[in-house]
Amino acid sequence: MDKIVYKNVSKSFDDLIVLDDFSLNIKKGDSVVIIGGSGTGKSVSLKCLLGLLTPDNGSIKVDEQETVGISSEYRNKINENIGMLFQNGALFDSMTVIENVCFGLKSGKGISDRKSRKIGIECLDKVGLDKSILDKYPSDLSGGMRKRVALARAIATNPEIILFDEPTTGLDPITASTIDNLIVDTVRKMGVTTITVTHDLASVRRIADRVALLYKGKIEWIGTVQEMDETDNPFVKQFINGSSKGPIHWARGNK
Ligand SMILES: Nc1ncnc2c1ncn2[C@@H]1O[C@H](COP(=O)(O)OP(=O)(O)OP(=O)(O)O)[C@@H](O)[C@H]1O
Ligand SMILES: [Mg+2]
Repeated sequence: MDKIVYKNVSKSFDDLIVLDDFSLNIKKGDSVVIIGGSGTGKSVSLKCLLGLLTPDNGSIKVDEQETVGISSEYRNKINENIGMLFQNGALFDSMTVIENVCFGLKSGKGISDRKSRKIGIECLDKVGLDKSILDKYPSDLSGGMRKRVALARAIATNPEIILFDEPTTGLDPITASTIDNLIVDTVRKMGVTTITVTHDLASVRRIADRVALLYKGKIEWIGTVQEMDETDNPFVKQFINGSSKGPIHWARGNK
């Protein structure tokens, strides 16, 4: 069954066309990785799914239910089942680690303080963080620890879908691979459907069941990691070789 279906989604900001007939089907339990140059609309595609941005046209279905144009009440219900790790970590600076991790449990699910604290500690343990940091603030933590806290927060509500936007960017290769393993582990154990955005090919190889290349507002190519390595598609080849020569000109002004 398809868990998430984007169909002909378009999104522009004034004159800038970002998503243009963007279609993508994601099966339940699948881990899809979206790759593509900076500014191509990867984060926008995730924000449209969360309802933080509204597509101009098209449809986004979750569990076969339309999510574009729904009431805020229904949106809150849908989002209770979606965890999001934002590109910059986006922890609340004025809240402690445990308050950050438990935020969705208390606000969304109305779980008591004591129970949510227990769940929060379990989630922090899953991402390899111990109790000593519970009462620290995000500014006291390293970048890798902040990503882990953000990951703990994304899984705390036990969501059916998790969106990871650049989970390993800016981290050293060892921390990055630890985060990838955590993602793969938590996802496999929890049977979650995930969309991950990353520039990091090593991460793609560790995480992806399927890789989707976003170019000029559309999914230009989609396939498994093995298919990615074997394809003759010039867009994919240029991306995996990191070459400035080829059909791709990321900067939209350079078309
Ligand atoms: N709320 C907004 N208002 C206006 N323009 C926006 C908004 N959000 C995104 N954009 C523009 O849409 C384009 C795509 O942005 P997006 O953040 O999706 O890129 P991205 O593919 O995630 O890039 P990166 O890899 O650098 O994170 C950019 O040109 C960006 O400036
Ligand atoms: Mg982005």
